[in-house]
Formats: sequence, structure tokens, C-alpha cells
Amino acid sequence: MSDSGKVSVLGICGSLRKGSFNMAALKAAIALKPPEMNVTVADISQIPLYNEDVRTQGFPPPVETLRRQIKEADGLLFACPEYNYGMTGVLKNAIDWASRPPDQPFAGKPCALLGAAAGMAGTARAQYDLRRACVFLDMHVLNKPEIFIGQAHTKFDDAGNLTDEAAKGFIRDMMANLASWARRFK
Ligand SMILES: Cc1cc2nc3c(=O)[nH]c(=O)nc-3n(C[C@H](O)[C@H](O)[C@H](O)COP(=O)(O)O)c2cc1C
Repeated sequence: MSDSGKVSVLGICGSLRKGSFNMAALKAAIALKPPEMNVTVADISQIPLYNEDVRTQGFPPPVETLRRQIKEADGLLFACPEYNYGMTGVLKNAIDWASRPPDQPFAGKPCALLGAAAGMAGTARAQYDLRRACVFLDMHVLNKPEIFIGQAHTKFDDAGNLTDEAAKGFIRDMMANLASWARRFK
């Protein structure tokens, strides 16, 4: 199988905060991606709280957009913050909306996860929470390397640039692996 075809990836960040370490980590990943990969970042800030009554009337436009972007992408890259040992409500809400029928768009999608937090565990618990949801959604989660950026305030500069060389190395490897992984499911 060729290992050089173009791969399109949709980035989804579970924090809406302007100074988000997770959005900064996602941007670092984009800077470290292989050249044949394109990454678009989804805007999930306008997605309303999930309500089945609303869903039965039709998907709100920001959800339609997200579902289309997921369908069109060869792979997904989740930047997963940790709130109270789980993924954030913002991320779960976006996933819940996008996952509804018809044509559940996550099914069969390859994806990778990364996360940054002030604590030592670097969102490990939240990422395993997200991995569990990915299993239910029939996604193919890249196993390695895992990217847990702990003590994030020491790993990014004031402009949001990732300064930790070890983390950069792991992210570069993950992006290369995600490209190969996504090609396998194309
Ligand atoms: C409601 C809430 C719960 C949090 N729970 C955790 C937690 O369980 N584990 C952790 O490492 N950090 C926790 N934090 C700290 C976040 O990791 C920190 O705010 C981080 O910067 C959030 O990601 P962001 O920078 O991308 O917004 C929590 C923060 C908030 C606001």
C-alpha cells in the first residue's frame, strides 16, 4: 500500500477557552504534521446543548456542518481536555449531537487523541473516557504514541507555543502514525 497519498484530518478541540492549552496542543500537532496531511479545525462553539426534541426537528446548522466535516475527513484528531476525570461537556455534547442517526458519521473513522492539563496525568483519564465513546461509535483509535501533556503551564510559552521538545517528538510521531493509520481505512 502506498504511504504517500494525501490524508485529510478534522481536528476537534474540547475546550472553548481562548487560551486553551488543548487548542494550543492541536495547533502544535498541525505544525508537526507530515506534509501530505491537511488538517482543518472544527468550530464546535455554536453547538447547542443536546435535546432530542430539537434533533427530531432536524440538526441545527452547526451540527450539520460538523457531521459533514466528519464524513468528509479521512481521520479525526481530538484534543481532549479533562474536567473532573472525564472529557469535557463541550466535547461530549458535540460528539453526542454528531453521533445521531441517520448515517452515524464516526463509524469506521480512524482517529487519534491528545490532551493537555495542569495536572500531572495530562488528561489520561479523560482520554480513556473518550476512547470508550470511540469504541461505541465504531471508530478506530490509534493506540500509540499516547500524548499526555501534564503540567501544561510549564510546556507552552505565553503565546501558546509548545516549547517541550519531548512532547513535540511524541506529537510528531503520532501525526506520522495517524497519516499511515488513516490511509489504511481510506
Ligand atoms: C470544571 C473543571 C474541572 C477540571 N478537572 C480537572 C481534572 O479532572 N483533571 C485535570 O488534570 N485538570 C482538571 N481541570 C483543570 C484543566 O485541566 C485546566 O483548566 C486546563 O487548562 C483545561 O484545558 P484548556 O486549557 O484546554 O481549557 C479542571 C478544570 C475545570 C474548569
